[in-house]
Amino acid sequence: MDLEDTVVLIVDDEKNTRDGLRRSFEDEFDIYVAANKAEALEVLRSESVEVMVTDLRLGGEDGMELIAEALKIPKPPVCIMMTAYGSVDIAVEAMKRGAYDYVSKPLNIDELELVIKRAIRSRSVETENASLKRQVEKRFSMENIIGSSPVMHPVFETVQQVAATKATVLIEGESGTGKELIAHSIHNLSGRPKSKLTIVHCAALSPQLLESELFGHERGAFTGATERRKGRFEEADGGTLFLDEIGEIDGNTQVKLLRALGERTIQRVGGNQVIKVDVRVIAATNKRLSELVEEGEFRDDLYFRLNVIRIEMPPLRARKEDIVLLSDTFLREFAEENEKPYRELTSDALQRLIDYDWPGNVRELRTAIEHGVVMSNGPKITLRHLPLFVKEGGGLLVAGRSHERGREVQTSGRPASREAVAVGGEVELNLDKMEQHYIELALERTAGNRTEAARLLGISRRTLQRKLKQEV
Ligand SMILES: Nc1ncnc2c1ncn2[C@@H]1O[C@H](COP(=O)(O)OP(=O)(O)OP(=O)(O)O)[C@@H](O)[C@H]1O
Ligand SMILES: [Mg+2]
Repeated sequence: MDLEDTVVLIVDDEKNTRDGLRRSFEDEFDIYVAANKAEALEVLRSESVEVMVTDLRLGGEDGMELIAEALKIPKPPVCIMMTAYGSVDIAVEAMKRGAYDYVSKPLNIDELELVIKRAIRSRSVETENASLKRQVEKRFSMENIIGSSPVMHPVFETVQQVAATKATVLIEGESGTGKELIAHSIHNLSGRPKSKLTIVHCAALSPQLLESELFGHERGAFTGATERRKGRFEEADGGTLFLDEIGEIDGNTQVKLLRALGERTIQRVGGNQVIKVDVRVIAATNKRLSELVEEGEFRDDLYFRLNVIRIEMPPLRARKEDIVLLSDTFLREFAEENEKPYRELTSDALQRLIDYDWPGNVRELRTAIEHGVVMSNGPKITLRHLPLFVKEGGGLLVAGRSHERGREVQTSGRPASREAVAVGGEVELNLDKMEQHYIELALERTAGNRTEAARLLGISRRTLQRKLKQEV
């Protein structure tokens, strides 16, 4: 943004102050001055003032009232209050009424300049967010993320709110729910998009490799380190680093990561040099980090560092409203990719997609639609064209569901699980009993592993524990 085009209005009843401030800032901003409320309001109505700096006392008039009126105009300025030295309580009152900040008199020009610049920045982020919000409301999507269901609203909202900040973001959610997609959109909206998003899949590397992947190494740091190599933290300097599957990193690397996040410095493996890095970190996991902490597998201090802002991606089965729009998007995408005409789903097929349980979430839906597009040649895509697992699976429990890793989600053609059928056949449909039955099944299947069982049931470990206690 060009600051010279930024319209700043100075309101003060003393001519000396007006002239002084005009002289100090006229090279920097587009300065207007006013001596009283009426003059100020006239400027506010005729110019698009971005920042208004007003004295508290304007002769017999009150600067606080001016701020209140200024904030009512359609595109209000950010307001800064000038107060007499020591009247902090009045300044605080002004901020409660919507002023952005205050400076005390006698004025320190450098300080006022800083405050004005900060105000301008806050305003541009605000307008950006407001327009984003409108966009989201209109299209029910953000970037390429589709979702109009209520459970997605907090996700979009958080993305908007945190994108422009440097805050560390932790994204949790089952496999295939769109965690990586969210990381991309936070980065794209972050104001750091000039730099790229650097991605590290933490689970794909051995602990030693991960450490040097993240922090780099010096020549001779270990056998095979024939050359000095920069790590991803250095590579991502000035940009965003996405640490995928953060739950998988070992204790030693956890310590180093904690330091990198806390002190914003790193050391290459085998090196002594302390290197400063300016990196925004986004981490994702399909485990619940808080549970890994409880189990002693993840450092709690690192967890707190990562968990500044948490985004929980809801599973697809919790937002079935989105299936229609998602399907349609994927139908178009794969029609184009396969150079086929766009074809709709029959209502039967669509109903099946809505009824299915989607253990592999959006990724699984996408694959199913791709299958449908490739297999069909008629006027519509029918049930027949969908993959077997969608056609046949999808009760309350799907055998072998695993949320461990996207690639491992088992969705091969299997009939609705034996157990689900058995329960369906029970005459007495007592909800408590059914729940108990499913809990037992889940525990049986996971050999008593409560974390796994909870995941299978789609509830938190804590909830499972509570339910188990209730039973006895
Ligand atoms: N809301 C959505 N709108 C459109 N496409 C989506 C959405 N969510 C996920 N997808 C698509 O589904 C696929 C899986 O998404 P993504 O890789 O972001 O999931 P993930 O949560 O990171 O999974 P994993 O834990 O397995 O790494 C991608 O092809 C992505 O583009
Ligand atoms: Mg992912």
